[in-house]
Amino acid sequence: MNVKPDFSRSSNQAATAPAFLSVWDVHAYYGESYIVQGINFNVHEGEILALLGRNGAGKTSTLRSIARTGSPMVTKGEIWLDHQPLHLMASHEAATAGLGLVPEDRRIIPGLTVEENLQLAQIAPPIGWSIERLYELFPRLGERRKQEGVTLSGGEQQMLAIARTLARDIKVLLLDEPYEGLAPVIVDEIEKTLVHIKEQGMTTIIVEQNAVRALQLADRAVILDTGGIVFDGLAEEVLENEELRAEYLAI
Ligand SMILES: Nc1ncnc2c1ncn2[C@@H]1O[C@H](COP(=O)(O)OP(=O)(O)OP(=O)(O)O)[C@@H](O)[C@H]1O
Ligand SMILES: [Mg+2]
Repeated sequence: MNVKPDFSRSSNQAATAPAFLSVWDVHAYYGESYIVQGINFNVHEGEILALLGRNGAGKTSTLRSIARTGSPMVTKGEIWLDHQPLHLMASHEAATAGLGLVPEDRRIIPGLTVEENLQLAQIAPPIGWSIERLYELFPRLGERRKQEGVTLSGGEQQMLAIARTLARDIKVLLLDEPYEGLAPVIVDEIEKTLVHIKEQGMTTIIVEQNAVRALQLADRAVILDTGGIVFDGLAEEVLENEELRAEYLAI
């Protein structure tokens, strides 16, 4: 009999202190396709959580469920952020409640300079980091403040996408493959920034194909496999567990 090892016992679902962000029995569908199949996990305030899994495992769909980005996806279940029921909110309300999704395609607005992209994010309150503080975080953006955002390099566009999200008053940063297509030296730069953002108290979920780098950055990890959670625990446990890495991350 081939019994798969069960890595899904949770180290963080103790029913004691309520989590900062709580994903409870969440399901997501695209039409007839049942993608996220009843997942539960918690994220603690100030930590970095790596959400990992193979292509098509449902990572982006999970981030979209949390951020309430909706159509064409339909979600069921409960998502609580700092005692607020996000599952009862529309996408724009969830953004105001403190969710900041940096999508994989970055979505820099054409025709606007770096600075205008940041100003647009602050057009309505609540406002987060000041533009000057964002330039201290990403000096390259300060140097290029008058340049059209879409003409930036891939790494700089990723920095702008993160900066624009921090320009709003967010409680959780959701990053979908922030290192995709970037040279290792730029990944190093973005990684340092994410550490700095964490030191300022931010809570982050990072989805990354570059699982080793994400695990080195993260405090904890959740691994998805075909829409369900197969591991929830410390990031270093995944780094140390060859069997788990080979089975679900192919690394
Ligand atoms: N708009 C959509 N309509 C129908 N099915 C979709 C849609 N978006 C995603 N899916 C399907 O949902 C499943 C999970 O996709 P998802 O993008 O969440 O995976 P992922 O873990 O982020 O994958 P990757 O690592 O490739 O980014 C896949 O089978 C995908 O084909
Ligand atoms: Mg994805």
